[in-house]
Amino acid sequence: MPQERETSAVLTVPGHSAADAEHAERNYCGYREVVRNSFKQWYKNNRDSWSGTTTNDRVTHFAIAAAPTGEDQPGSGPARVLDIGCGRGLQTASLAEWLEAEVTGLDLLDVWDTPDVKNGSIRFHQGDFLAFRAEGLDLLVDNGCLHHQRREDWAPWVEHGRKMLRPGGVWVVSVFLSPDGEITPHPLADGRLNWWLTERLVTELYEANGFRFTGSLEIDRHFEYEGHQLKYLTLSFVAV
Ligand SMILES: C[S@@+](CC[C@H](N)C(=O)[O-])C[C@H]1O[C@@H](n2cnc3c(N)ncnc32)[C@H](O)[C@@H]1O
Repeated sequence: MPQERETSAVLTVPGHSAADAEHAERNYCGYREVVRNSFKQWYKNNRDSWSGTTTNDRVTHFAIAAAPTGEDQPGSGPARVLDIGCGRGLQTASLAEWLEAEVTGLDLLDVWDTPDVKNGSIRFHQGDFLAFRAEGLDLLVDNGCLHHQRREDWAPWVEHGRKMLRPGGVWVVSVFLSPDGEITPHPLADGRLNWWLTERLVTELYEANGFRFTGSLEIDRHFEYEGHQLKYLTLSFVAV
């Protein structure tokens, strides 16, 4: 399976000086290391309870239903898919299998552990989403990655993905749904952020960056935390 590695991220904010951009880049790289080290420990200790769950299957089914038809062949499925923050790559394989598509799994860590697929194809790329380059993609799937990013990176994140999608392409994103309607960060002891988000916030974020909302699904996690029944919120957006 081809594997590539990439480490640099480019973040520029319009209207800021080169020094500001350099500072933002250093900050971003620092936080990305926090995220990478945090997930590394969780995977190493087999604490990745999110991998291969039935809640993930529901996100996969939602993504398949939301996927656009092929650009050149009406009636066919999407040809090129990016699985952002693919982790073990199980969903990467399911997407290839079900959509018969060419799917790239992208993650900061090379922890993929994926069965062979009979339909479509999969490849993996180790690196940061903001440093990944592609164009003309049909479908982006982000199951559980955006909600670990810093708030100031959300807009550049969505903007970056928009540039990789063709017009009419679709982005499916699944996040922690805020149980109390508040947008709050819930940092872990190691510094990784777990943002609780709302449908309104995510929709406004995407619609401000070249997308139109097309659907959403609440997925029960069957997990109680501080008196709240936690859920995921999965949304789809089409690139306009
Ligand atoms: C909660 S896990 C979800 C994994 C997978 N999507 C799943 O549902 O099983 C989030 C993943 O995102 C990856 N990740 C976080 N920030 C990332 C970034 N900036 N670029 C690429 N991957 C990232 C982490 O390494 C981790 O594997």
